[in-house]
Amino acid sequence: MKTQRIHDGIDQLTIDVKDILFEGLWEMPNGVTLNSYIVHGDDIAIIDGVCGWDGVPETLFQLFDSLNLDVKKVKYLILNHLEPDHSGWIEPFKKIHSDFEVVCTDKGAELYRSYYGDNETIHVVKDGSELDLGNGKKLNFITIPHVHWPDAMLTYEVNSQTVFSCDAFGMFGTYDKSNASEYTVDELKSFTREIDRYYSNIIGAFSPFVLKAIEKCDGIEISRIAPGHGLLWDTQIDWIIEKYRSLANCQKGGEQKITLLWGSMYGMTEAAVKVAEAVLKASGISYEVHRVPDSSWGEILTSVWTSKGVILAMPTYEYKMFPPMAAVLEEIGRKKANCRLGFRFGSFGWSGGAQKELDEILEKYRMNWTFIEPHEFKGRATDESLEIVKQQTHQLIELVKQCESAN
Ligand code: FEO
Repeated sequence: MKTQRIHDGIDQLTIDVKDILFEGLWEMPNGVTLNSYIVHGDDIAIIDGVCGWDGVPETLFQLFDSLNLDVKKVKYLILNHLEPDHSGWIEPFKKIHSDFEVVCTDKGAELYRSYYGDNETIHVVKDGSELDLGNGKKLNFITIPHVHWPDAMLTYEVNSQTVFSCDAFGMFGTYDKSNASEYTVDELKSFTREIDRYYSNIIGAFSPFVLKAIEKCDGIEISRIAPGHGLLWDTQIDWIIEKYRSLANCQKGGEQKITLLWGSMYGMTEAAVKVAEAVLKASGISYEVHRVPDSSWGEILTSVWTSKGVILAMPTYEYKMFPPMAAVLEEIGRKKANCRLGFRFGSFGWSGGAQKELDEILEKYRMNWTFIEPHEFKGRATDESLEIVKQQTHQLIELVKQCESAN
């Protein structure tokens, strides 16, 4: 855990969280940070909060102590977003300080009451609302619904031109340094996968709302972005905004890249996968290979999110698709990773059925994927089947190369 002064009268509090699944679901090999901010005007406001993932607030209280902050002087809790990774500290906080007021959107107020009761005064804010803390600290509020939950908003401190963005412009990973300016541009770019994985796993489904939020940001002067997760963007502000715009646009197409997603029971489909992978490698196109169920859903989703082309290779299993493939495709559908170019192949034993289930998933989530001719083979792939897989993989590569990247 650490604290830093990010501007005169504004402190950042950070903890690193590791060895948990985000939302109880998403693996984070490098953990995630949680950031909270304290704005010192004549009145003191906490923007969002940090605590252990289980809601125990000792960490936050230690951070308060390290700042010599008298908790009882906190007048406002500014809640940009009520998801418990940012609000789970409130209930125990109330045990040591109950004389505060809550500031959030109308949807935030509903969520506050459902999670934390209705004993507090809640100031509902909307676009253009202001809160003057005195001593040169003035907060404006900008709603960004569905980035990530419907309650989400940005808080903007006018004089320092600081955007407190909560989930927006966040990233997975934990970092030795707190500020983007402490890293070289190359180092920042090396963190791209953490941004891609955070975005596709957590925010991606809401990409149209992300684009609207970015439009709103276009209208304000920004000197720093202070997110709830990841680095403080005190430099490369345009870069992180454009990165988010680009990831949002990936919902409708992805980049000139192919994800080879495959599963195999007894090596029959795997033999054809090796042929497809060799073609991808020789072609020079950017590609990733993920096996189900071995690769994490988070990595698979990240890869598909950023890929225009997807090769699905799986056997039929009991009249349907190989189950781990169906499960991950359902999640890809829920995230609305639409408009991909696809090619499917795989083995079957006594009956087909994988294609039928794939069609059902594509239809159910209105994914609008376009497939070239699939290829199924009974039992072991013949040389003729392997040649078809090879030629179809070439065809998909050419189609992906003809597409413009979504960004
Ligand atoms: Fe970091 Fe949607 O909570």
